Amino acid sequence: MSDLFEIQGSVALVTGASRGIGRACARQLAQAGAIVYACARSEEALEELASECEGVRACVLDLRDEVMVEALASEIMEAHGRLDVLVNNAGVLGPRATLDQTGAEALREVLEVNVVGAFNVLSASYPALRAANAPRVINLSSSVGRKGRAQWGAYSISKFGMEGLSEIAADELGEDAVVVTLNPGGTATDMRAEAYPDEDPDTLPSADDVAQTIVLLTRQLRAEHNGGRFSSRALFDLAKASPQKAVELPTD
Ligand SMILES: NC(=O)c1ccc[n+]([C@@H]2O[C@H](COP(=O)([O-])OP(=O)(O)OC[C@H]3O[C@@H](n4cnc5c(N)ncnc54)[C@H](OP(=O)(O)O)[C@@H]3O)[C@@H](O)[C@H]2O)c1
Repeated sequence: MSDLFEIQGSVALVTGASRGIGRACARQLAQAGAIVYACARSEEALEELASECEGVRACVLDLRDEVMVEALASEIMEAHGRLDVLVNNAGVLGPRATLDQTGAEALREVLEVNVVGAFNVLSASYPALRAANAPRVINLSSSVGRKGRAQWGAYSISKFGMEGLSEIAADELGEDAVVVTLNPGGTATDMRAEAYPDEDPDTLPSADDVAQTIVLLTRQLRAEHNGGRFSSRALFDLAKASPQKAVELPTD
C-alpha cells in the first residue's frame, strides 16, 4: 500500500483556475480523481473547464469579496465536511515599476488580490481544512517574494505577504496540516507575457509542467515539510517521474 496522500476522492479548491497555472492544476487534480472547486471571475472559462473535466466544479467569484468566499467555504463544508487540498494560486502582476513610480493606489490593488484575497480564502477554509485528516495548502509565491528585486515593487511586496501568510498558517493549522509556498518560476502564461512582452513563451516551462509539480507536492507533502518553501524548477524531474513512494523533496 502506498504511504502517499491519496488524491483520488479528495476535495480540492484551486483559485485562479480560469487560465494559466491554476487551470492546469485544477485539470490535473481532477484527472487524478479529486473533486475540484475551481475559482475565478471568468465564468465562461470556468464553465468550459468544468464541461471538459469530470470532477471540476466552476465557482465564479472575486477573491476580494469575503462574503462570496465565505459562502463557497460553507458550501464545501456542507457538501463534504472537509477540504483536503487548497491551492492558493490566483494573482495579479500590477505595474512593473520602481517604488517611487508605483503609487499607493496600484500597491493597494495588487495587495487586495494577492494578499487580502489569499487571506480571505485561507482563513475561510480553516474549519474545512481542520476537519480533514491530512490537509495540504500550497500557496503560489515567486522568487521576488523571497528576495526583493528592482521594479517588482507591488507584486514583490505582495508575494512577501504570501510567504508570511503561509508561515502563519503553517504554525496555526497544527500537526496534521502541511502548508507550504511554491515558486513556479517563469512559466508561459498571460501573467508572464505581461511582465516580459518580448519573450518567446516557447522557451519557458508550460503551466502543465508547473501543475505537475503541484500534483507531486499534493501527493508527497509530509509533516516534516510544514512551513517549507519549494520551487518548481527543482521538482520538474521528480514530477515527471511521478514516484509512487515517498521521496526526498528538495526545498529552497
Ligand atoms: N507565470 C509566471 O511566470 C509566474 C512566476 C512566478 C509566480 N507566479 C504566480 O503563479 C500564480 C499563477 O500565475 P499565472 O501566471 O498562471 O497567472 P495568470 O495566467 O495571469 O492567471 C491568474 C489567475 O488569477 C485569477 N484572478 C486574478 N484576480 C482575481 C480575483 N480578483 N478573483 C479571483 N480570481 C482572480 C485569474 O482569473 P480571472 O481573471 O478569471 O478572475 C486567473 O485565473 C500567481 O500567483 C503568480 O503570481 C507566476
